[in-house]
Amino acid sequence: MKKEIKKVTTNVLLKMKQKGEKISMLTAYDYTTAKILDHAGIDVLLVGDSASNVMAGHETTLPITLDQMIYHASSVVRAVNRALIVVDLPFGSYQGNSKEALNSAIRIMKESGAHAVKLEGGKEIKESVERILSAGIPVMGHLGLTPQSIYKFGTYEVRAREKAEAERILSDSELLEKIGCFAIVLEKIPAKLATQVAKNISIPVIGIGAGSGVDGQVLVLHDMLGFNHEFNPRFLRRYLNLYDDIKGAVQKYIKDVKSQDFPNAKEQY
Ligand code: KIV
Repeated sequence: MKKEIKKVTTNVLLKMKQKGEKISMLTAYDYTTAKILDHAGIDVLLVGDSASNVMAGHETTLPITLDQMIYHASSVVRAVNRALIVVDLPFGSYQGNSKEALNSAIRIMKESGAHAVKLEGGKEIKESVERILSAGIPVMGHLGLTPQSIYKFGTYEVRAREKAEAERILSDSELLEKIGCFAIVLEKIPAKLATQVAKNISIPVIGIGAGSGVDGQVLVLHDMLGFNHEFNPRFLRRYLNLYDDIKGAVQKYIKDVKSQDFPNAKEQY
């Protein structure tokens, strides 16, 4: 008999927080890797706008478009049976205009089949978040280092070391919980502050560079698999060194082709 798969929902994540079970989350942008991550048992897949960096080679997350996010998200959706799939609303598709925010979120849900959207910011995007929530679309918040605002910050350094910004993160996280977000990502803030936020609100708090006192962790897949050597923040743990492994395999293939070792007698018709 086929084993029934228990799908991860926003409610399942809330129960995990209540039970003290940590939530695992990774980014995914394509069908093939999303399938592996889902089979491995990942709880949440984020179709992050970090696709702009790791898939398209842009310096920031700003250039990626809504159409491109929908393309990545629909590829991931086709691969996944269990994980909750969250998609980033890209820069320019929700800030400052709640009607446009709702239209962008609806396009993502309708055209990709994903389960939720993520938006960067707090009080300043309250109206957009509320309007999306009112359409029955689950929203994940994102506070701390919000890469879509990189030109305002001017640096990818740790955020909220000063009291005023730390207090703003506390109040923004309370606001996002109050208006109905199902979870929040906290990026690159002091571990003590992130722990305080996770204790202060009842929805799950997922950290990246935010220490161990939160309810779950997220990493960019390409960073944790070691697809590159250049990005080395303190919070990153590398589980593989794919840059070297792939380069080595390709060099071996080139050598085999040049030496006519490949294909051999068994590898042809
Ligand atoms: O786009 C992304 O990958 C993200 C994570 C860093 C949380 O937003």
